[in-house]
Amino acid sequence: PVLVVDFGAQYAQLIARRIREAGLYSEIIAHDAPASEFAAKNPMAIVLSGGPSSVNDAGAPSFDTSVFDLGVPTMGICYGFQLMSTALGGRVAKTDKREYGSTPVSVSQTGSLLAETPENYKVWMSHGDSVAEAPDGFDVLASTPDTPVAAFECAAKRFAGVQWHPEVLHSENGQKILENFLFNVAGLEADWTNESVIDEQVELIRARVGNKKVICGLSGGVDSSVAAALVHKAIGDQLTCVFVDHGLLRQDERVQVEKDYVDSIGVRLVTVDAREQFLSQLAGVTDPEEKRKIIGREFIRTFETAAADLVLEAQEGEGEEIAFLVQGTLYPDVVESGGGSGTANIKSHHNVGGLPDDIQFQLIEPLRALFKDEVRAIGRELGVPEVIVSRQPFPGPGLGIRIIGEVTEERLNILRKADAIARAELTKAGLDGEIWQCPVVLLADVRSVGVQGDGRTYGHPVVLRPVSSEDAMTADWTRIPYDVLSVISNRITNEVDDINRVVLDVTSKPPGTIEWE
Ligand code: XMP
Repeated sequence: PVLVVDFGAQYAQLIARRIREAGLYSEIIAHDAPASEFAAKNPMAIVLSGGPSSVNDAGAPSFDTSVFDLGVPTMGICYGFQLMSTALGGRVAKTDKREYGSTPVSVSQTGSLLAETPENYKVWMSHGDSVAEAPDGFDVLASTPDTPVAAFECAAKRFAGVQWHPEVLHSENGQKILENFLFNVAGLEADWTNESVIDEQVELIRARVGNKKVICGLSGGVDSSVAAALVHKAIGDQLTCVFVDHGLLRQDERVQVEKDYVDSIGVRLVTVDAREQFLSQLAGVTDPEEKRKIIGREFIRTFETAAADLVLEAQEGEGEEIAFLVQGTLYPDVVESGGGSGTANIKSHHNVGGLPDDIQFQLIEPLRALFKDEVRAIGRELGVPEVIVSRQPFPGPGLGIRIIGEVTEERLNILRKADAIARAELTKAGLDGEIWQCPVVLLADVRSVGVQGDGRTYGHPVVLRPVSSEDAMTADWTRIPYDVLSVISNRITNEVDDINRVVLDVTSKPPGTIEWE
């Protein structure tokens, strides 16, 4: 792999993704891993990411600098660039000037790293201290008004670095520079493609499963749908999928799974209609965490029962036993729960549908090495319907946590209609790429006064919560054009009984979370 060293900011994942986009497999490694652990991974190249500290700080993240002696091509970015400078004999100076945001850079010589980039362009900076002197043997390639050494390269050692963040979209020529490092400086060749990932996983799954049987819980979301499609490609009808309809789904979601997905993938599907069970358990409950607990508990119960039935059926049928459970775990989940990285558990996982304790399955997690955009690409390759592949993240507890107040059938129907209108109009306006997700929230316990025809109405408001985000950990509200908002508002208030007001949530995260509950 190409190893991306994580110095504690959010940049490492982004860099790893950009490297994958360039067609090379990348993995994240903790900054305090010893050089032996680096060597054991047999890296083709190493990228040192940015981080929140300065190399001159007392508490600067530790790094085993003998990594520089492994003979592996290495690129430093921001903090990594400064670290490389000090470790190799250059000098980082405390400066009073901070460069933050879009900054003009001038290229004095391109070397291999900045090849085919222009003389002047804008890059994204975020640093206080600067490299004052490059280490011996390094050519300085670029500078900014406040930073004399903004990029350097040592062709002999195949080392290079930039002070700015080429991985963020605001940096012009960013992807080009990363690719220059990988292909020119390090001399690598692209070999990571969707087909290669699929082929590799298919082989692995076949070898592991043999002729045993496998079960998978489908949620209708991207991850479980693609995971199941991949496993199905490997072992066909040895896989059975279970889909729990808890009644908290959005409009058409069940049909999309039961019909569109099954038709295109050809997978064996068992649907459990548990709508009444969930509604009756949720009756009278208004506390959000209580709702989550109930939904999570009922989900596991339902899935367990369905799995147990299938296990029994398999035993009675004298076929092979069900020995495996498919899960759609992605690489960010692996990194964030500390697997393969020193990063602390920054995000608590609130996925509904944990593993049942008393049924013992081995896990198959075919997406464990992948980022979301790769999962989508693989899904398309496998023929998973576009409505599912491009679906926004949707919380496990579904519409249950988008009704502020008690969850009832009537309220669910109202919200489903409003949500479907908002989604359709946002898609029509071409905003799906810009929007991470747009919860529509029903303020069911609030009554708003309206006027329709000659009469006053007491209806409910719905909230539109469109957000843009890279990973849901932070988010900003999406600036949706007024005319699109206007269409959504008119349609919802005209077409959905009981809703007489549409409001827009203009809070970033933090301080607001994405969901209202
Ligand atoms: P918040 O509201 O915490 O949401 O900013 C971050 C992301 O997580 C989703 N979310 C959930 N997903 N079970 C889930 O499976 C939950 O209980 C839950 N709560 C929030 C949310 O949709 C967003 O993508």
